Amino acid sequence: MLKPVGIIHGHYECRSLDETLPIFTDLLALEVARRADGEAVLKHPNTDWLLVVHEGGPNARNKPHNNHYGFRVGHHGEVEAAFEYIKAHKEQYRIKSLTTPHEAHFAYSIYLKEPGGNDLEIEYYNPKAVEHGRVIAAPHWKTLLTEDRFPGRGYIPQAMSHGTLQCDDKAASDRFYEQVLGLTIIGGGRTSTYIRHPANPWYIVVLPGRKREFLEPVNRFTLRLASAEAVEEAHREFTRSGKGLGITELRDLEQKDGQVSFIFSDPDRNWWEAVASDEGASKAAKIGAASEAAAS
Ligand SMILES: [Fe+2]
Repeated sequence: MLKPVGIIHGHYECRSLDETLPIFTDLLALEVARRADGEAVLKHPNTDWLLVVHEGGPNARNKPHNNHYGFRVGHHGEVEAAFEYIKAHKEQYRIKSLTTPHEAHFAYSIYLKEPGGNDLEIEYYNPKAVEHGRVIAAPHWKTLLTEDRFPGRGYIPQAMSHGTLQCDDKAASDRFYEQVLGLTIIGGGRTSTYIRHPANPWYIVVLPGRKREFLEPVNRFTLRLASAEAVEEAHREFTRSGKGLGITELRDLEQKDGQVSFIFSDPDRNWWEAVASDEGASKAAKIGAASEAAAS
């Protein structure tokens, strides 16, 4: 079983970075941390879970609705404000469609289709739902972003709260998430499962799919393991007994920029990646090396 220390990235394919990045920066309050070679790393100021956006070109296909990412606002009324603002700027951002605000259980949300072929959600979640056992309703931020960080829209996305996957057999998938990936099931019911790493508030909603459309590995979630040795050992274990564990495909171990990683698919053919280091660690190392160089 993997012993992840966190879910650190979501990877996501769009068609054109020039077209899709403004959706994230202008409508969802993310910042572009890095952009190079058809890939951009995005971060919401309140969320350490990074979104890595890959440019797939004009033929990248539309992704199913149940492979969307969600962004949370702090107040119920902001969902309506987001709807109004995005409706008024639909053509500017080439948004294909936008749903009217919809109430479901403790959540209130809208969905938009960005031009890169993906659905995105802006949601409000009543924090009182925590009292009803909904752990995911707890705020995903320590400090609310203020209007000066995201002025003039009438709403402020406060965090990137969730990603979404589809499964074929809920019971088998639930077992895999806990017993192979080492993640924790924090909610759900007959038709859904909410999984996350206990160290992080962000989560993945898994919904049974009727007519599955399988994703490419460029759409995946990344788990960070404690060390390069742990990644190598996990790869050895999956090579040895992955089939019995439910691994449907295992890619080779890769070493890039001093980072060891591998990609694999789960019983539902959803893609995951195991890596040994996170952005923060490598960035800190780079900054450390740069200041050492400057001092010498
Ligand atoms: Fe959602």
